[in-house]
Amino acid sequence: MTSSTPCDQPVRSLISTTLATPALRADRWLLVLDLARKWSTTNAADIKKSLSSSLEKLDEVERFFAYPGAQLLERLKSCLSDDDNKAFLRLAQRISTTIVSRKYHRDASAWNMDDHDDEPLNRLPQAITHLKSTPYFEVLSVVPHARSRWPLIQEEARGVRRAEDDFIYQPVIVGNAQDALTGILLNPDIGAVVLYEGFTAQSLTENPLLAAFQSVIDFSTIGDDETLVLQLAQAIKKIRPEMDIYLLSDRNIETLAGKPESRFFNRIFYQMEEPLELHLSILEGIRNRYKTPFFDNLKRYAQRPIATFHALPIARGKSVFTSNWISDMGEFYGPNLFLAESSATTGGLDSLLEPTGNIKDAQAMAAQAFGADHAFFVTNGTSTSNKMVLQALLAPGDIVILDRNCHKSHHYGCVLAGAQPYYVEAFPLVEYSMYGGVPLRTIKQALLALKAHGDLARVKMVDLTNCTFDGHVYDTRRVMEECLAIKPDLIFLWDEAWFGFAHWSPLLRQRTAMGAAAALTEALTRPEAQQAWDKQASTLGNTPDDETLLNTRLVPDPRAVRLRVYQTNSVHKSMSALRQGSIVLVKDVDFEHVESQFHEAVFTHASTSPNLQIIASLDVARRQMQLEGYGLVSNALQIALEIRKQVNSHKLISKYFRVLNSAEMIPGAFRQSGLTDYNDPSISWDKALQSIKTDEFLLDPTRMTLSCGAAGFDGTTFKNILADKFNIQLNKTSRNSVLLQSNINNTRSDIALLIRVLVDIATDIDKKIADNDEEYQKTFENRVHALVDDLPELPNFSHFDDRYRDQPKAPTLHGDIRRAFYDAYNEAECEYIPLDSPEIAKRLQSGPALVSANFVIPYPPGFPIMVPGQVITQGIVDFMRKLDVKEIHGFNKALGLKLLKRVPGKNKG
Ligand SMILES: Cc1ncc(COP(=O)(O)O)c(C=O)c1O
Repeated sequence: MTSSTPCDQPVRSLISTTLATPALRADRWLLVLDLARKWSTTNAADIKKSLSSSLEKLDEVERFFAYPGAQLLERLKSCLSDDDNKAFLRLAQRISTTIVSRKYHRDASAWNMDDHDDEPLNRLPQAITHLKSTPYFEVLSVVPHARSRWPLIQEEARGVRRAEDDFIYQPVIVGNAQDALTGILLNPDIGAVVLYEGFTAQSLTENPLLAAFQSVIDFSTIGDDETLVLQLAQAIKKIRPEMDIYLLSDRNIETLAGKPESRFFNRIFYQMEEPLELHLSILEGIRNRYKTPFFDNLKRYAQRPIATFHALPIARGKSVFTSNWISDMGEFYGPNLFLAESSATTGGLDSLLEPTGNIKDAQAMAAQAFGADHAFFVTNGTSTSNKMVLQALLAPGDIVILDRNCHKSHHYGCVLAGAQPYYVEAFPLVEYSMYGGVPLRTIKQALLALKAHGDLARVKMVDLTNCTFDGHVYDTRRVMEECLAIKPDLIFLWDEAWFGFAHWSPLLRQRTAMGAAAALTEALTRPEAQQAWDKQASTLGNTPDDETLLNTRLVPDPRAVRLRVYQTNSVHKSMSALRQGSIVLVKDVDFEHVESQFHEAVFTHASTSPNLQIIASLDVARRQMQLEGYGLVSNALQIALEIRKQVNSHKLISKYFRVLNSAEMIPGAFRQSGLTDYNDPSISWDKALQSIKTDEFLLDPTRMTLSCGAAGFDGTTFKNILADKFNIQLNKTSRNSVLLQSNINNTRSDIALLIRVLVDIATDIDKKIADNDEEYQKTFENRVHALVDDLPELPNFSHFDDRYRDQPKAPTLHGDIRRAFYDAYNEAECEYIPLDSPEIAKRLQSGPALVSANFVIPYPPGFPIMVPGQVITQGIVDFMRKLDVKEIHGFNKALGLKLLKRVPGKNKG
């Protein structure tokens, strides 16, 4: 590949190519197929010429893949030079279909050249005979040898295969570090890398694809010296941390093995001394990731003839299969589900509450896979994970800086723990009736206000949602750095219910809690961190005012920082776990001091009958992500970027619908790069990189807000239409939008279905407008106006009533939500006022204050408009009156607002 490829003619925008690198191959094949079709019908010379150059471009990418391999590509080229346009189209179609369907992973015939043409030919040299259900991967070898020797090296690698191998792989060879990194980015099948010492670096910085990854890999240090193998190994791990790397060296390998950097290698061999050992090590590396300690044991358990004298009659399925009345349940689920059910924690199983065996091992593997120190499986969803973390780390009276729009489990967690939430507001997106994320300035302001009033010591935690339901991704590292500069022992809880998959995107990983924590841990050990702190201290002086602190990009004192990061993650929302499968990930230098509390919290919230199938699925989801997560996540990103492009560029669809872009979802102040749209073809590398790396908020491309107000639909109605009429299930809704989410499960066919349906609906609207009279058109316009222009202001959190505040006079916002919550248990202390009662206006005007007795959470938008103890304002009342949603948790329309009365002599404040 020349240094200016593979991105010099982008079919998609640069940022979208970078986020979903493997899509580049599909783009190149699409182009070849498109031209091949035209050539087969026209036989035009200019098309043949374009085909020839697009084949060259394809070659640049294909050399990083084992299938179809050089010989089949040669054959394709010979069809071109022989002017056989029909044979060319046939062969191109077969190869691309095989690639898309990944038939070569599991079907040996895909490797058979005879199958690729009518004319019988020999089998491909790399043909496999025993694929069947054997998992397939590719091994990238980086070699110093002349190209002419590469086929020999490949042959040798294949020569050590054995019929009893539990996995099968094909070798792919490159000759320098630049190609190695390009291969790792482009080819998701690569499961292991073998470095043959002596290869060169090549001009790393000239490759635009690699330049995009400067944000995660510092290429500037990679040069042709003796540390090249170590640097390349480190760079590979930064892109795909799960990768197994083997080194073949002809130097003093014993000395190398003693260096700390050798941790990047699974094993170091003396060059070509032991090809079979290398082969067995490669298989073992994959086996280690493939291993699912709990699931493997559960499968074994299910095969054993076990008699149960225990609870859970459904276990073993006898009560089901022999039943006259419920045997259809057995038929539906199949016997394994019942054979794998048990309420025992012995006999090969383990206890989730006190794991000592295979669950402990499975959790340790998950921790390592997600880049955490500890992982805890949770079988009741992230709703429970959040409550566990809050209870474990917060005591009554502690203050937690909390996003008011976070999931309700955090609010309830505060009630349970007795912690006092200090609500901070996210930026509003009034036009779409939703909120974004909490600006860093707001968080710093809260910390500084608490400091000013002597309450900083009570602030234990900053608790934020990353990414938000609607896709706002924080700059997690910066938020932690700046907050730690104000209070160096703050704990961070990042609710990443939706964002677990991001660990398998090399670019998004840095914005996850664990990705940022790892980077921060490393950065804080460097001398530059201390220098930056010292410089800041001398610039700011001893008593900087708040405004200066708010306007300064703060850095923490590395000597004082205690990095304590928790991430909760609904594995079931973005990976292959069963519903409710969730995980708590921990990277906390002080975890040993809270471990016993943490276990208490687990005991408080976890069921003593956890669902074994959920635990097994968490184990399996981890295996999948470690072996194919990179490709799956790239695919999810590619699908999302494609949907964004197709919807917004379609003439008819875009009259009524739009997938909101970064500019619409994130105000300019938080998009310092100026990036407006992932599909903007004019985005420069600089802007793309800056946006991913340093914009205060980034939009998760997989979370697509589709505005439907211009089509006259409110979100809920549109969601129901798509589900009932078109079998399309969506995520959440807002007043004038619905949220689409792409995940590791989606295919291009799903895009086609969505586009087809949107075209049908848009056509229908067009037709109705054309067919009907002016009256109809007026009604339609009014409806659109109500949905698009006439939107209620989103009410901010007001404040807790003085009786629930420790310092009623201070301009701080925390309050004793738990006391308010329990005050409402006393019915005599509560009153109800209907929303339309004139009493409301009277009370708003002259008191006593209207104090909410409970949480009131309308769906949508899904955040608490009121929390227990909160003073209700005119804005809140207006919003409630304008709400036209059916589901409002905590509000009974017939009774009205539930309020806490002021009880003389009882209520403090
Ligand atoms: C941000 C956030 N956190 C937590 C949860 C709860 O997760 P789970 O459904 O796994 O209980 C949700 C659910 O939608 C959520 O949106």
